[in-house]
Amino acid sequence: MKTLIKNGIIHNHNDSFKSDILIEDEIIVDISDSISSNSADKTIDAENMYVLPGGVDVHTHLNLQLGERKVSDGFFEGTKAAAFGGTTTIVDHPEGCDTECSLLTKPNEYRKKLEKEAVIDFGIHGVFQRADAEIINEIPLLIEKGYYSSKIYTTYDLMLNYDEIEIVLKNMKKYGGLTCFHAEDNEILKSYREKYLNHKNLSPELHPLSRPDYAESVAIKKICKLAKKYDTEVYIVHLSSAIGLEQIENAISNNTKVIAETCAQYLLLDDSYYLQDDGLKYVMSPPLRNKSDIKALWKGIEKGLIKVIATDHCSFSYKDKLKYGKDNVFNCPGGIPGVETRMPLIFNETVNKRNISINKFVELCCANPAKIMGFFDKKGSIERGKDADIVIWNSNLKKKISVNNLHQKCDYTPFENFEVTGCPITTMVRGNVIVDNGIFYGEKGFGKFIFRKK
Ligand code: URP
Ligand code: ZN
Ligand code: ZN
Repeated sequence: MKTLIKNGIIHNHNDSFKSDILIEDEIIVDISDSISSNSADKTIDAENMYVLPGGVDVHTHLNLQLGERKVSDGFFEGTKAAAFGGTTTIVDHPEGCDTECSLLTKPNEYRKKLEKEAVIDFGIHGVFQRADAEIINEIPLLIEKGYYSSKIYTTYDLMLNYDEIEIVLKNMKKYGGLTCFHAEDNEILKSYREKYLNHKNLSPELHPLSRPDYAESVAIKKICKLAKKYDTEVYIVHLSSAIGLEQIENAISNNTKVIAETCAQYLLLDDSYYLQDDGLKYVMSPPLRNKSDIKALWKGIEKGLIKVIATDHCSFSYKDKLKYGKDNVFNCPGGIPGVETRMPLIFNETVNKRNISINKFVELCCANPAKIMGFFDKKGSIERGKDADIVIWNSNLKKKISVNNLHQKCDYTPFENFEVTGCPITTMVRGNVIVDNGIFYGEKGFGKFIFRKK
């Protein structure tokens, strides 16, 4: 099967040019001017459209279950929503195990389920819940199986302490894996939480107060110190604060190999949302910060200190947030949906509002995440020989974001009523049209596991 995309303007991370694209058997086989329609079985006319690499979201939590609490978007719903939003690849963070398990248990379990359910391609991160000899010995096998990156939480039940982190980093260096961090210092969080737990009114506004930016910056500083000691690469997920960013900048200038990711919510929403009646909708960790943090993060993007914009899509419903958190914000499940809205929101904010180039938008949302997470050989840019993961983008199309016109299962979006100009029209994964003009053509189980390596 040969598909031709004609007359569009291609925007990669490093270049923009008008050209046709010929796809054969899922792969881009030619990019050149005036390819004849005779050479294809099907032609898509992209006149007046942008042609972008499919979005890459390397921070999602599909199907996550924490005790009795489960997110709304499973592997099918989450990947379908991603496709509607112009994202063609996710890398999902698995939940931890309830009882002691192998380092490969969750990634393998997720792989099996995603292979049955996903409509777009996917990678899977590992997760360190222990750092004993048994787990450390499994690192080479984990990496051999294509799980190039793994996450460590510095808080929550599945956290590691800094001594354990040191053991993991030393060994990830040895075996060539990338270690990702949820960076909030647990001791600081504990002391703040104790302080606020005595409050009479446990309302959402206590959430950001109980998880200060200081906890993020301390954790980042400690992680970077260890990364420097072992000369190993670390990746900070969902960076939220100006002082966290300062630590990243210091570490980079000190030749520490640290990579920072932020998420759309930390660039677009501030902590005033916690004062609203529906403040529980915005409970996530780290919390939303203030306007000066948002300003600092955008500066960090412009300066190249932040390399990736992801979502941390973790779709606990508002119904469940109310059920568990109505009388006590500390019982509210944390996380928000975002996989479907990231690309239009960030396009609108970068290209339309901040005069940031479309190439930089593609770099942050497509190329860098694929490069950093070990699959730029296949995805993240429109190049001959790569998978034909392509989004045809109407840069003039205006939409008002509303849960009523999204395809996620989650019952709300934190971006309700946000207006954007620029939306995906057609989403193709490996040359197959998954979404076109609002119609879903995807199939459960079409998505393929991405073997990631460096
Ligand atoms: O509150 C959040 N972000 N929940 C998802 C898990 C995490 O910390 O990334
Ligand atoms: Zn996290
Ligand atoms: Zn997360």
